[in-house]
Amino acid sequence: MPTLAQQHILLGISGGIAAYKAAELTRLLIKAGAEVRVCMTEGATHFVTPLTFQALSGHPVHTTLLDPEAEAGMGHIELARWADQIVIAPASANCIARLTHGFADDLLTTLCLASKAPLAIAPAMNQQMWANAATQANIATLQSRKVKLLGPASGEQACGDIGFGRMLEPEQIVQLLQADSAPLQLTGVKVILTAGPTREAIDPVRFISNRSSGKMGYALAEAAQALGAEVTLISGPVALTPPQGVQHLKVESAQQMLEATLAHMPGQDIFIATAAVADYTPAEVAEQKIKKSASELSLELKRTQDILATVTSQFPALFSVGFAAETHDLMTYARSKLERKQLQMVAANSVAGGKVFDQDTNALEVVWRDGQHSFPEMTKQALAVELMQLIAKRYQHYKDTPDAP
Ligand code: CTP
Repeated sequence: MPTLAQQHILLGISGGIAAYKAAELTRLLIKAGAEVRVCMTEGATHFVTPLTFQALSGHPVHTTLLDPEAEAGMGHIELARWADQIVIAPASANCIARLTHGFADDLLTTLCLASKAPLAIAPAMNQQMWANAATQANIATLQSRKVKLLGPASGEQACGDIGFGRMLEPEQIVQLLQADSAPLQLTGVKVILTAGPTREAIDPVRFISNRSSGKMGYALAEAAQALGAEVTLISGPVALTPPQGVQHLKVESAQQMLEATLAHMPGQDIFIATAAVADYTPAEVAEQKIKKSASELSLELKRTQDILATVTSQFPALFSVGFAAETHDLMTYARSKLERKQLQMVAANSVAGGKVFDQDTNALEVVWRDGQHSFPEMTKQALAVELMQLIAKRYQHYKDTPDAP
């Protein structure tokens, strides 16, 4: 069982009604074996008194930056160095904005700037404030800096609204922190990915292709390798450099991608199909350049073979992950793809209005047979790291419980 034993957790509490839940969180963290020091913003002290946290943690609570008495005890730089991790719960919209912009005008933001420890935040705010583009942009920035996002949950709020913005329950926060402290590795696991677009030749100089940049697939290959996996990347034509140490195969057409994928599939453990494979290819490829003549030209196209479905039918024991790009009814289509192609997971993104392709950020809804997870918009690199960790967790579960969904 993963543990928080002996971890030094600096618990930051910002101003919001959910501050009262931080008392239970302090108790549960200590029960899980952590050593907890508490830092409250001025706003937080209007909701709960520092004395509550002093009694629960057994240590004086830190509230102000320029407090000679506190600095004489454990000064703020010392406290920043002491922390193995910083957890801010609740993290208000204001606190999130200030962290994003690197403020250091109160103790909590100063500690965050002065510490090398990983930072996790549990947002708590009104649903409209959470949905606001400013907050979402701040969250994306923080996540791109590897700040861990814990929640928020959806439900009824203190103000009477219903929606996303509720702080996770203290038990859930502790569970997530415990899960994170578990060493999650893919050492010895073989991961194969397809990435990028395919090119379907019309004649020696022309082809049909799509806007896929391959960024997500390449970032996932890198993230899998960082977890210790042995990675094979089968890529259509893209303008990217493959990560060092990854076995990289270049292909052009859907047929070539199918053949290369099948040839490298024996012995693989995880297959991640991020490629935007052409669904149709010219029925015939002209041997010579087609010269213009008539005012209209029709091209006859035929269906390509579905690489992912072919792989899952030939290698049913493989842990297979598909991607879905949809303009509407994201979850419904993602779930039907899961069944139809016999996959363990589907990662779906919205391409309404042509977004996603060739962009540096993305958001994903991930579904599996008995669960789902939403990743808010963040850089494709940050998203790949988070998604790969989720894939590793689900893969572990799949190996541990072969009969489970
Ligand atoms: N895929 C594949 N081979 C194909 C087509 C798709 O491996 N010939 C994979 C993609 O890499 C992706 C998933 O299948 O992981 C996408 O499924 P698909 O049903 O093709 O998605 P859409 O193109 O969105 O489907 P539709 O045409 O139904 O909108």
